[in-house]
Amino acid sequence: MRTLIFALFFGYLSVISGQAIASAEGIHLDDVEVDLADKASLQRGAKTFVNYCLSCHAASFMRYNRMAKDLDLSDDQVKENLMFASEKIGDTMTIAMRAEDAKKWFGVTPPDLSVISRSRGTAWLNTYLQTFFIDDAKAVGTNNAVFKDVGMPHILWEQQGYLHHDEETGHLTQVKEGTLSTYDYNVMVADLVNFLAYVGEPSKIQRLELGKWVLLYLFLFFLVAYPMKKAFWRDIH
Ligand code: HEC
Repeated sequence: MRTLIFALFFGYLSVISGQAIASAEGIHLDDVEVDLADKASLQRGAKTFVNYCLSCHAASFMRYNRMAKDLDLSDDQVKENLMFASEKIGDTMTIAMRAEDAKKWFGVTPPDLSVISRSRGTAWLNTYLQTFFIDDAKAVGTNNAVFKDVGMPHILWEQQGYLHHDEETGHLTQVKEGTLSTYDYNVMVADLVNFLAYVGEPSKIQRLELGKWVLLYLFLFFLVAYPMKKAFWRDIH
């Protein structure tokens, strides 16, 4: 028993320290609320993902028709808004770019983002997408506060504009406005992170929906079981 308690305790410790490492770059990570019941947010996130990320990153664990169902969209809506003409609704979200080309262009192959929300965490993702800053020393012209010397350019520069990074204080300040206000840009990123959280664990949507019915069932069962228990034990007491 004692060993079990120790094992659980140390297991727990290693989980917490794992989380501490995630923010070890010294910058505060801003988390977002993941809300898989917010279908409007997931739909907006899907749109951003398809338009701005899917050109380089695949999400090859995700099928378009599954996404349609989970996000309350019809197959036709997905076909018209979220897919390229050559793809079929049963396809997974892969990319046309070949891995060797990607490596040639960016020096690294953009990783598949299917489970990125689980490996990096949503707070890290949210912060990553908000903290690209100008860095003339880099080939792509930008760098990132939580992913030093990242090979990915600042994809959402049009929306966010550009940030300047103060070497000494680590502060980020806006030096060029984007088409969106800071607030609207943060909402755009939050929706995208929400979508990536969904992609990382799609069946969670069903679990949450099923959960309500399970609780209702337990409640109704209690209404039956409690009077029965009373009836059975009446003569014994
Ligand atoms: C022009 C191609 C390109 C586009 C478009 C692009 N990325 Fe990237 N991304 C990359 C490359 C290349 C890397 C690998 C960087 C490295 O390892 O240095 C990367 C890395 C990442 C990482 C870090 C992965 C890790 O190793 O943990 C995340 C997260 C990410 N991208 C998210 C996104 C999101 C979200 C979008 C859409 C807004 C996007 N990317 C659009 C090229 C791209």
